[in-house]
Amino acid sequence: MTVEFCGLELEHPVINGSGTFDAIAARRAFGDELVERFPFSAFVSKTVTVEPRQGNPPPRLWEVAGGLINSIGLPNKGLAGYLEHDLPELARLPVPLIVNIMGFSGDEVARLVRAFSEREEVSALELNVSCPNVETGLTMGADPGETGRLLAKVRPLTAKPLIVKLTPNATDVPAVARAAEDAGADAVSLINTLRGMALDPRTGCPWLGGITGGVSGPAVRPIALAQVHAVAQAVEIPIVGMGGVQRGADALDLMRAGASLVGVGTESFRDPAAGIRIARELKELLANSAVEDRRGALAGQPGREL
Ligand SMILES: Cc1cc2nc3c(=O)[nH]c(=O)nc-3n(C[C@H](O)[C@H](O)[C@H](O)COP(=O)(O)O)c2cc1C
Repeated sequence: MTVEFCGLELEHPVINGSGTFDAIAARRAFGDELVERFPFSAFVSKTVTVEPRQGNPPPRLWEVAGGLINSIGLPNKGLAGYLEHDLPELARLPVPLIVNIMGFSGDEVARLVRAFSEREEVSALELNVSCPNVETGLTMGADPGETGRLLAKVRPLTAKPLIVKLTPNATDVPAVARAAEDAGADAVSLINTLRGMALDPRTGCPWLGGITGGVSGPAVRPIALAQVHAVAQAVEIPIVGMGGVQRGADALDLMRAGASLVGVGTESFRDPAAGIRIARELKELLANSAVEDRRGALAGQPGREL
């Protein structure tokens, strides 16, 4: 099941979704056994920002039918804290490290790209573009022009593979993916969470401290499948597909829609070893798959819009 992705040799196509598996905490809880049987073929770190962030006030989670809404708010130690405390620990993992970064301006993203570009422990960078640019007020990944300008700025700063993590909260996700590709992205990943909200049934007030949050889990799986399929018609670069993957069959669906790798997110909260099971199930399915060209088997079958 080995797969080549942006120059990286990966043992299988199953990785984690950023922010959904804390490898450092897992090592503390499960010991070095985790290192020997690491659930993913590459590890994607949670989003790192330039400055440390506390995250959103609690409550931060709400369970919905088939998933959850999170309003974690990207708490992290910031660039300096990550480099000092997290990077040395994550570098000991037996799989390549992909660092997910986010900035609130082009300059901030550039600073992060430059800093990680110098670190040999880092195999690739994932740009989380689901946030507003304080200079323009536009969500970086919701507008093709904004995404293209960001990539044009940071692409020359690193030779490492750049993966753009697309937001599903955009009018035309394939157009954003194309803009990223045209400006030099090596891959795109999708979907991030969909904006959602829950009210406290007792008070009628917003439940989440952040008022709104991001919906993930099996409830978003059909949306992820449709968006991966649409993006696969628009770009040539590899796609990391994610959104509601719980079983090998879900992973295979995303690959048939055009994904080269598959990310597992919310399912890891139910079972931290879910990645191992999903990779095993996928392997069995691929071995028995009658589909000749299973990757992108649906290419050339664009969806119809009303
Ligand atoms: C609790 C939680 C935290 C997340 N944190 C991040 C994050 O820090 N950066 C990011 O790019 N995506 C983050 N995500 C999005 C996931 O990586 C993934 O794109 C999304 O949840 C869809 O996959 P899933 O349905 O399998 O969870 C987070 C999702 C959840 C549920």
